[in-house]
Amino acid sequence: MSCKVVVLISGSGSNLQALLDTTAQADAPFSVCAVISNKAEAYGLNRATQAGIPGIVVDHRSFPNRGAFDQALIKEIDQHKPSLVVLAGFMRILTPEFVRHYGGRLINIHPSLLPKYQGLNTHQRALEAGDKTHGVTVHFVTEELDGGPSIVQAIVPIKEGDTPALLAKRVQRQEHTIYPMAVSWFAQQRLQMADDRVLLDGELLPHCGVQISA
Ligand code: GAR
Repeated sequence: MSCKVVVLISGSGSNLQALLDTTAQADAPFSVCAVISNKAEAYGLNRATQAGIPGIVVDHRSFPNRGAFDQALIKEIDQHKPSLVVLAGFMRILTPEFVRHYGGRLINIHPSLLPKYQGLNTHQRALEAGDKTHGVTVHFVTEELDGGPSIVQAIVPIKEGDTPALLAKRVQRQEHTIYPMAVSWFAQQRLQMADDRVLLDGELLPHCGVQISA
């Protein structure tokens, strides 16, 4: 049976699309059973509808605080009984209670080579620092924001004359490769988080995870 995945989004959902495209392949090891957005206007909800998948809005502004929102989110997610919860451009900070509830089965994609540039404006920060390389990380989520152990990173060279927008575009191309790859590994039961480290096929990965050069 294919592994059921719930995807949380806040925006365009291009990573969601990459996951949906993977599920359209005959041998896909996972399926997306629901897409949940904290924003009704998120374009990714249209992508879910197009794929015939329920697109659900849980608007954070309808709740008195972060804890109440996260509890409502848990209630919604758990109705779909997913094996994995995938954050794909979900721009909300999650409570420790939420993270603990999905311990070892909650993953995120962040547009930097973590632990560098946690938080926002990562492309601009990499350019301002004069870095030669930048990239993207898929990681398990722990209680530390953008701090969980890495599963896979794609390294993207920074080119002469790069702008944040140009760099973001090249990084996103890699996002769309490595996120379906990591979700497939999890679905095939090849991936595990143990004591804040990641095991792939039973082997402990280095702190950076698997590294791929674009
Ligand atoms: C992606 O670039 C992802 O790396 C980033 O949001 C974008 C969502 O794009 N995530 C974060 O910054 C999380 N801290 P998408 O909606 O087109 O998939």
